[in-house]
Amino acid sequence: MMNRLTDSFTLENGYSIPCLGYGTWQTPDGQTAVTSVKKALETGYRHIDTAAVYGNEVGVGQGIAASGIPRDEIFVTSKVWNSQRGYSRTLDAFAKTLSDLQLDYLDLYLIHWPANERQFKEWDTLNRETWRAMTELYNQGKIRAIGVSNFKPHHLESLMKTEVPPMVNQIEYHPGQLQEKTVRYCREHNILVEAWSPLGTGKMLTNPTLNSIADKYNRSAAQICIRWILQNGLLPLPKSVTPSRIEENARVFDFTLDGEDMKTIGDMEYFGGSGLDPDLVDF
Ligand code: A2P
Repeated sequence: MMNRLTDSFTLENGYSIPCLGYGTWQTPDGQTAVTSVKKALETGYRHIDTAAVYGNEVGVGQGIAASGIPRDEIFVTSKVWNSQRGYSRTLDAFAKTLSDLQLDYLDLYLIHWPANERQFKEWDTLNRETWRAMTELYNQGKIRAIGVSNFKPHHLESLMKTEVPPMVNQIEYHPGQLQEKTVRYCREHNILVEAWSPLGTGKMLTNPTLNSIADKYNRSAAQICIRWILQNGLLPLPKSVTPSRIEENARVFDFTLDGEDMKTIGDMEYFGGSGLDPDLVDF
């Protein structure tokens, strides 16, 4: 079990990834991104998750630079957006991401969403073409690890047969949203699962069951969600731009949820979140 903010999971290729990431979806670019990323790094987070489509890579990069922490002590993830699928567009998207972040390599680059059957007859070929670019950048040393996001097992299948299979899958995961088939598939194939919206974009936090468990441990519902994800062996990516919450979300290493509470949370019915099905989205 992870004991500190800087403890790491080890990816399939041996590369280390700090066990709690700082999410930036819905963080506005500019001063908010700069200040909150800097605050997260000052708090001790060493893993920052962004994406081209978040529109905040410039601010995130400035926050990283402003922290003064050496580049090789920080794990930075970004993602190629849906409009950039395919071999050459992905190479272009990656170059823009690096330039916006003002970095010369990424620790992790992900395909943000799979091309799905609803939108593309040749969805699998398109995903493989995107993956071919990712693999090339990885082989060139411009990315330390490569993976996907929002992929279900059938989207992953053909990529698993390539020269460098995905090492990470970042999916929506929080109480009531467990995506069990996907998580099981990833475990069987040595793919680390990261949890986006670990707080259900905040919707978990008023839930009475989570709050009564939180009271028992003298913690907040947010800390219960994050801890529950860690104890399930997944990597949570909580987002906050509020300094006190950035700190609170990192204080999850000095208590342990007992087996009964783990089960109570694991058995909760869906009660909110994005709930997007990657096979049905039309963006
Ligand atoms: P804010 O960024 O304004 O602080 P998720 O990580 O599931 O996407 O959830 C992010 C949402 O939850 C944001 O609206 C964020 O607000 C809010 N949030 C993050 N951490 C906490 C916390 N510890 N307590 C209450 N709300 C939080």
